[in-house]
Order: sequence, then structure tokens, then C-alpha cells
Amino acid sequence: MVDALFAEPRLAAVYDALDPDRSDLDAYLAIAEELGATRVVDVGCGTGTFACLLAARDKSVVGVDPAAASLKVARRKPGADAVHWVRGDATALPALPALRADLATMTGNVAQVFVDDRGWDETLAAVRASLRAGGWLVFETRDPGSQAWRHWTHEHTYRHAEIPGIGRVETWVELTSVAFPLVSFQTTFVFASDGATLRSQSTLRFRDRNEIAGSLERAGFRLEEVRDAPDRPGLEMVFLAVRAER
Ligand SMILES: C[S@@+](CC[C@H](N)C(=O)[O-])C[C@H]1O[C@@H](n2cnc3c(N)ncnc32)[C@H](O)[C@@H]1O
Repeated sequence: MVDALFAEPRLAAVYDALDPDRSDLDAYLAIAEELGATRVVDVGCGTGTFACLLAARDKSVVGVDPAAASLKVARRKPGADAVHWVRGDATALPALPALRADLATMTGNVAQVFVDDRGWDETLAAVRASLRAGGWLVFETRDPGSQAWRHWTHEHTYRHAEIPGIGRVETWVELTSVAFPLVSFQTTFVFASDGATLRSQSTLRFRDRNEIAGSLERAGFRLEEVRDAPDRPGLEMVFLAVRAER
């Protein structure tokens, strides 16, 4: 089940305004160019920011996400008509005719939503099936060693925004449990227009470099490189894996 954060229409509608700095996507755009990718699948595309950036660079793009409310936001963005939006998880991809993508991406720590190994392994298998021979999978995940959850407090995460047509919205995150490798937190949203308070519960899975490397190998990928995320040095690992032929 997808977190309310992404699936509840009122919350999906404020996702971009509350997290407007998407300089994290610059590294992914650069990697897409570096790899010479023209056909890209963005898995867990959410509100579609990265898919639209790719389409603006004349890439042929499929954006897939199970959250209908987030896709609705995505479809309204400038340039969204050039993207093929699919509601579902990665297992919906192999059914698309002749996808044969050069590159599959998972930005924004999508890889951490897969709390059990089965869901993660199925996702990797489906992504592999959507790639051409020699196609790439590029994604990030927070390094468990940096213990990012220690900063998931009201003090460190409080934000607010004045959103046209919606009004002032405040939000913050609070850690609810650490049962490593699972970490749970609650995100609160307060809407000034009607005083509504909405809460979303999330659990993320932290996998270390070796665990990710093993899962990629089992799924039929060859891990080529692990990079630091330039905008979050030391906090996240960006994996670049290539589809291996068996
Ligand atoms: C933190 S958001 C990141 C969204 C987007 N990639 C970005 O960078 O803004 C995580 C996304 O993962 C999606 N998601 C949840 N479960 C998923 C699954 N099983 N397969 C693919 N995406 C999933 C959510 O709906 C949400 O849009």
C-alpha cells in the first residue's frame, strides 16, 4: 500500500511546493546524458518532475507509479503530454510493448519503499525485463551508516509554504520507530485554509552497499559503480548497474 503522502490527493497536490529544490535530479540528468540514453523508464516517478525534465530533453519517457493522486499532479505539468504515464509498480512494465529502455531510474530514494526482499527482488526483475541488452539501472538509497533518521525530528524537518490556490501549509516529520533495517516515521501536514491536519505513516528499508550489490547480481545486473550523491555527500549511494546477459 502506498503512503498517504503520495496517494492522498490533498497531500500529493502539495508535494512539489513543500520540496521545491530538486537539484538532486541534476546528477540523474547528467548520468542519462553520460550513458547516451534516449529511452528512459522512471520507476516511482511520483509527481513526475524528473520524467518531465527528461522529456524536455527529447528523451522518450515512461513514468510509472502506483499512486494515482501523484500521477494526476504529474499529468498537469508543462510537457507532461510527451510522457507515457503508467499507474502501477515496476511489474507493469514488461507488459508494455517493445519498451527496451536504455535506462531505468529510481530517484528520491524510491528503492527504500521496498521493505521486504520479495518486493525489491520482483522490482529488480521487472526493471531488468524492461531494459534492452546492455541497458542501465540507476538509483539511490540512503547509506544506513549515516543514520539519516536521527534528524527526522520536528526541529530539523519543519517547513512551510504559501501555495497558490491552497494557502499556507506547514509540515514536519517525526520518527516513530527504528527496528533496523526498518525505520518508520510520521509526516504531519497542517492546512491553514480550513485548519485540517493530515498525517501520513511511512516505513523505509535501509540496505547497505553489500546487500544492494548482492540483490543486483541475483536479479541479473552487473554493478559498475557506486557514486556519492553530489548534493548530499556522504549520505546517499547512487548505484549504476548494467543489465547482464545470462
Ligand atoms: C519519495 S517519492 C519519490 C518520487 C519521485 N521519484 C521523486 O523523485 O520525486 C517515492 C515514490 O515511490 C512510489 N512507490 C511506492 N511504492 C512503489 C512501488 N511498489 N513501485 C514503484 N513506486 C512506488 C510512491 O508512490 C512515491 O511516488
